[in-house]
Amino acid sequence: MRGILIAGLLALVGGYLVARWLSARALNGMQRELAQLERARKRFIATASHELRTPVFSLGGFVELLEDEELDAPTRRRFLGHVSEQVERLRKLSVDLLDLSRLESGTLELRPEQVDLAELTRSVSAEFEVSLSHHDSRLELLLAPRVEAACDPVRLAQIVRILIDNAVTHTPAGTAIVVTTAREDGRVRLAVRDDGEGIDPAAVPRIFEPFYTADDAQGSGLGLAIASELAERMDGRLKVETAPGATVFTLELPAAA
Ligand SMILES: Nc1ncnc2c1ncn2[C@@H]1O[C@H](COP(=O)(O)OP(=O)(O)OP(=O)(O)O)[C@@H](O)[C@H]1O
Ligand SMILES: [Mg+2]
Repeated sequence: MRGILIAGLLALVGGYLVARWLSARALNGMQRELAQLERARKRFIATASHELRTPVFSLGGFVELLEDEELDAPTRRRFLGHVSEQVERLRKLSVDLLDLSRLESGTLELRPEQVDLAELTRSVSAEFEVSLSHHDSRLELLLAPRVEAACDPVRLAQIVRILIDNAVTHTPAGTAIVVTTAREDGRVRLAVRDDGEGIDPAAVPRIFEPFYTADDAQGSGLGLAIASELAERMDGRLKVETAPGATVFTLELPAAA
């Protein structure tokens, strides 16, 4: 009887010690995660402020220059051109930052419906007419009929815009950007391919991080971070295959029933 009592007591004390040890470990782990989150949040705010500062300072500079009443008309027009460029940059940046923060806090609302991929791709492509002609490249659409996704059409259009925008930036002048759609096993796919220089394999794992840019193009590095978060929120995913001369971003989404 005493033996059983002692064994019981030992089991109790042992159990208590193990539980305490485990909860201290869990607590340490949680503290580490919280500290990491806090660091990420601070880094996000620091980088965002830095990104905002550049166009704001540049705007201030041009406004000061424009105050000179003796400026000749062509110079004034040139300065005004820079002003509207910086305003556009600020507009895009503020919309992107808001989207990203809503995505990360889980407060971005999605309105899924049945979306025809061909129709949506055609309408987004039309927005690129001017930038394509400036760049002397063209869009080739290979759109399968009746490919329908279950997703938010506004957000899908945003992803397609981000992918085509990157392709236009990176493909050499005179080449075609090819957009294809397909349906397979309850999933739909939309792929955007360009003939550009490709992405350094070492940079590939980082291109979906906010603010990461693998080149010195003028972007803020938010496009792909937003696109991949959006894809995941719509139960899809975004992946990339890249080599010098061929880069393909493929978006996969659930097919509409
Ligand atoms: N099609 C592509 N070909 C080569 N590199 C690419 C391509 N798409 C993206 N990248 C690389 O990935 C980086 C991240 O892309 P992302 O769209 O997130 O940012 P960005 O285009 O630089 O800026 P933003 O989209 O916010 O204006 C880019 O800076 C570029 O280096
Ligand atoms: Mg981009």
